[in-house]
Amino acid sequence: MVKIAVLGYGTVGSGVVEVIERNRMLIEKRVGKRLEVKYVLDIRDFPGDPYEDRIVHDAERILKDPEVEIICETMGGIEPAYTYSKRALEAGKSVCTSNKELVAAHGAELIALSEKHGCNYLFEASVGGGIPIIRPLNCALTAERVVEITGILNGTTNYILTRMEKDGADFGTVLKEAQQKGYAERNPEADVEGYDACRKIAILTSLIAGRTVDFGEIHTEGITGITPEDFQYARAMGRTIKLLAVSREEEDGYLASVTPCMLKKEVPLALVNGVFNAVSVRGNTLGESMFYGKGAGKLPTASAVVSDVVDCARHLGEHMVCIWEDEPVRLKPFEEGVSRFFVRMKEESEAEADAVFGPVAKIRLQELSGEYGFLTEPMTEREFAGKHRKVSGMISRIRVRD
Ligand code: NDP
Ligand code: HSE
Repeated sequence: MVKIAVLGYGTVGSGVVEVIERNRMLIEKRVGKRLEVKYVLDIRDFPGDPYEDRIVHDAERILKDPEVEIICETMGGIEPAYTYSKRALEAGKSVCTSNKELVAAHGAELIALSEKHGCNYLFEASVGGGIPIIRPLNCALTAERVVEITGILNGTTNYILTRMEKDGADFGTVLKEAQQKGYAERNPEADVEGYDACRKIAILTSLIAGRTVDFGEIHTEGITGITPEDFQYARAMGRTIKLLAVSREEEDGYLASVTPCMLKKEVPLALVNGVFNAVSVRGNTLGESMFYGKGAGKLPTASAVVSDVVDCARHLGEHMVCIWEDEPVRLKPFEEGVSRFFVRMKEESEAEADAVFGPVAKIRLQELSGEYGFLTEPMTEREFAGKHRKVSGMISRIRVRD
């Protein structure tokens, strides 16, 4: 019998219990032992819940119980999740988490601690919800030098952008829907401002580099500036808009960013809609490989956490190698990245824009008077910023990926 505890009985934590109950027979066969959820830690009580009698409010009961061998940390946030995770690992208990904020901030340290104490710190659910991506990077792609990762890594924002594009839905209304469906973070600013995707691309980059990315150094833009008018232009150009997280290994470091991008409608990432996420991984000998699935939500995310529980239960007392050291990864300055840009310009500034950007094909939409749009040639962020400063009537700009 393997005894586990769940910290945080919210969307993901309650999903963990549900997945274990629903698939108990299969899971136990795969582990080769019975599983018991001995405790569920939460602030609240859950009267009438089938697990009501396992609810505890004092983490010490779990951390000091030698019978508990695996802990699912689905509380979120840095503290007290960080302290509880460290204490659990120091006591030789493996920890399976969906908490990307904590993994991005302390991944290297917690993995090292798990190695020292002969247990595991696993975080499959921290990137891409239910999509298997951490284990493939750690176990299946070990012959590869991964040179680029491009992903739609946030379910909430992809849900919002899809509903804006397909149904003309209003940003605020759709965000509320995403919150009701359990996709959004407690503070949804983390989703809509791109911080959540930033932490996820930092985790993936740390894994492929084997060293630590400081997520605070990754250039991050969210989707709050994306408007229905941007989608009108995108449609006219046979494109759509997605929040892309990108990390590319270059000679002198990794170039990583999170920004909204216009994509041609037919490219695979443009076809990823709603709460779905996708991660495209390019290896130096494999070429491109793509992972697709639900990026958020109770059961898909819980399924990923429970897959880690199975792995830990199969390897009790044994540390599984995960190379992510404390040493920092060098990130290249974002200004050196090269893109094409879609620019929306006020008509009154057309002469000025012509002088700065040179001859460009202009897109004028009947329904949008007093402005036009155009695509630039590829240029560095630094060059674009220089041109931006020279024209007064730029309404907005979105990067373009071909
Ligand atoms: P929820 O807010 O739904 O659940 C968190 C639960 O933990 C709540 O019940 C909360 O109680 C409880 N909790 C918080 N702090 C404490 C504490 N100090 N002691 C005891 N219980 C506590 O969040 P989610 O389930 O959505 O997310 C959990 C984690 O998983 C986060 O890190 C999130 O980023 C991540 N994640 C979420 C996904 C999703 O689709 N929702 C997908 C992938 C990852 P209370 O509500 O009373 O504060
Ligand atoms: N808020 C996150 C998202 C949860 O929407 O993608 C999954 O990490």
